[in-house]
Amino acid sequence: MDGLLSKENREWRERVRALAEKAVRPVAARYDRAQEYPWEIQKALAKEGIFKVWIPEEYGGAGGERILNLCIVVEELSRACGGVGVLFAVNALGSFPIILGGTGAQKEKWLPKLAAGETLIAYCLSEKGSGSDAASMRCRARRDGNEYVIDGEKKWTTNGQAANLYTVFAVTDPKSKSRRISGILVEKGTPGFTFSKIEDKMGIRCVPVVESHFRNCRVPADHVLGGLEGYGFRHAMATLDIARPGVAAQAVGLAQGALEWALVYTSRRKQFGQRIIDFQAVQHMLADMATKVEAARQLVYAAARAADRGLDNLTRLSAMCKLYATDVAMEVTTNAVQLFGGYGYMRDYPIEKYMRDAKITQIYEGTNQVQRLVISRNLMKEATLLAELLDPYLPKETQYVLDEGPTPPEAAAAFSVPAVSVPAIKTLYQ
Ligand code: CAA
Repeated sequence: MDGLLSKENREWRERVRALAEKAVRPVAARYDRAQEYPWEIQKALAKEGIFKVWIPEEYGGAGGERILNLCIVVEELSRACGGVGVLFAVNALGSFPIILGGTGAQKEKWLPKLAAGETLIAYCLSEKGSGSDAASMRCRARRDGNEYVIDGEKKWTTNGQAANLYTVFAVTDPKSKSRRISGILVEKGTPGFTFSKIEDKMGIRCVPVVESHFRNCRVPADHVLGGLEGYGFRHAMATLDIARPGVAAQAVGLAQGALEWALVYTSRRKQFGQRIIDFQAVQHMLADMATKVEAARQLVYAAARAADRGLDNLTRLSAMCKLYATDVAMEVTTNAVQLFGGYGYMRDYPIEKYMRDAKITQIYEGTNQVQRLVISRNLMKEATLLAELLDPYLPKETQYVLDEGPTPPEAAAAFSVPAVSVPAIKTLYQ
């Protein structure tokens, strides 16, 4: 469906596809096994200018349809390796709070370095006891003169240790309900900021996920996002709105990659004297897989365009594309393993990695249960708005119940209807 994309979108696709085939696919299995950060890939991406894609032009970025192009880039990288897809996309997640809520000085200081791929960044929201319920975090930060002092810990820091900058969300006003949390930029190497427990993961193994610890960690007061306390939760949520299409794009890339492997393998593999792709059961499986991948892709692109245009329906579309694309990725990659049969289950071949990498997309940046919650909350608001429009057409009958007080006037009116139509009813049942 490249024809539906602009020239700019297609150029990003071609550039990254070529780079992924040259620099990512051949080494993906090696880094997955070693669970090692692929610095050679990061450097190749930086050299090719790919980190510019989501950064505004005035801060050294590429400009244009930044979120859509980001999704295209992540999709292409993930088609070759899901781990590299998130290794790249997590930098967008970490820097969106600066783009959305940073001061001019914060943007000028950090965004050009992020665009050049010189600075890598991570997003520290989750904690051991605060996952889906992000607002319940307990990491604290208090102002002390010209500094903030951070104490606490963060869990699941993706890109941790590799990154030099961390967008950390911490409680600055425990008594406040709506202004409790602030975003703070913390540089790697700040005294009191350490890492532990490098997680041993099922998938996305080339990107580190660690625990981050803060003990009496002092950062300059001008590292508070936007220069104002209390806006952290909003920044975190608005960030997820524009970042979730990126996870969804990772899922589309994984599903597309797995589908391609399945197409080639089923065209080669022979059983019962014919290629297995010549069995109708296999053809139908492939047809369903391809249809779902395309549907997911178009939903992701729609959400990305909504983000680029700042549309009001972004929160809902973003949750929808994340939910749908990641569920599709899990289904398609599992089916691809199935089509490879016993070979699919073996670590000697590339397909099982797609399934392992896909699983996390249903979990991070908001579980798919949270996406359903976001979508349904949004639908309930819509129901209130629609009520006025549709009210005249809705049934308003009231049940008459003996001994429950006087019959309300509308019930009495409804009750009187059959009396008028008795002859008609009698005719009907004769
Ligand atoms: N944009 C802007 N503001 C928003 C918002 C949005 N999308 N959503 C909510 N807010 C604001 C609300 O307006 C409200 O503001 P006021 O208090 O001023 O009225 C405030 O935030 C609280 O909103 P809610 O009452 O809706 O908040 P909640 O506590 O009920 O939580 C939630 C809502 C959607 C469940 C949220 O907690 C959530 O998204 N949870 C999932 C967290 C998540 O995605 N974590 C992933 C971590 S990152 C990661 O995984 C990355 C990685 O490793 C790669």
